[in-house]
Amino acid sequence: MNAVDDPSRIARLVRQHAETSRLLGVDFVPSFRSGDSSLTECKPVSASRPAPVLSADEPKAVPEREARGVPHAEPAIDPDDAAGAQARLDALRERYINDAPHEQFETAHTSIVFGEGDPAARLMFIGEAPGADEDRIGRPFVGKSGQLLDKMIVAMGLTRESVYIANVLKTRPPGNRTPTIEEARLCAPYLYEQIRIVAPEIIVTLGKSAGQLLLGTSDSMGAMRGKWASFPPPSPLVPVEGMAPIAVMPTYHPAFLLRSYTAENRGKVWADLKLVMDRLGLT
Ligand code: URA
Repeated sequence: MNAVDDPSRIARLVRQHAETSRLLGVDFVPSFRSGDSSLTECKPVSASRPAPVLSADEPKAVPEREARGVPHAEPAIDPDDAAGAQARLDALRERYINDAPHEQFETAHTSIVFGEGDPAARLMFIGEAPGADEDRIGRPFVGKSGQLLDKMIVAMGLTRESVYIANVLKTRPPGNRTPTIEEARLCAPYLYEQIRIVAPEIIVTLGKSAGQLLLGTSDSMGAMRGKWASFPPPSPLVPVEGMAPIAVMPTYHPAFLLRSYTAENRGKVWADLKLVMDRLGLT
């Protein structure tokens, strides 16, 4: 079928256009035929690899004291299986809780915000650290920034459930300050392992902390964004052994967009996301 005649593709483009115009305020005009009744039959596209039924165990906000002391056992699992990937993520979360790298620095946390989403996602978003809302609920990106991230994901024609979302730090920093390099170094092995398990095709880093950590650079956000990079980088902050390269697209953090809600900034983020959509075959 010609791409222009594919109703689901047209519907997706129209929805992306509407969402993008409304939420990001940028001009993206899809080509479609008017009067096509199928435009109402718009279904979210999954960014997941075709995968078997997933484990229903969504990570929950477990008070740290309760979760502590759980013996860490690596389950015997098939690494290519989505349920297996979820089990490995669960085991990694337990390991993080037992190792408690955040005890080596100051935090303002009441819960561990480890990450969530499709364990076999093709697309992974990595932010900086949980804020107050995330700490309270125990899930990443659920506050104002998270609401904008959700809109960005929908504008891409995806659903939040079909991607994986994690942060550099798993605990809220005091006053929501930017993580230090030492804090990122202590927590990086757990993030790297999350990446290894999910094995996405593309990682989008949100903001400077995640961009610099993943790219192994001290470049500014403006220098990093909008250009494809690769993880692991030539000089990672901590060693990463035997991981196949993953494409990385750094872009601005939604919190920055909310602070500086200009057409120029929204256009830059949308341009970065379009590169990701192109590479995933979503346009
Ligand atoms: N900002 C982040 O970087 N991560 C979150 O989870 C929430 C806000």
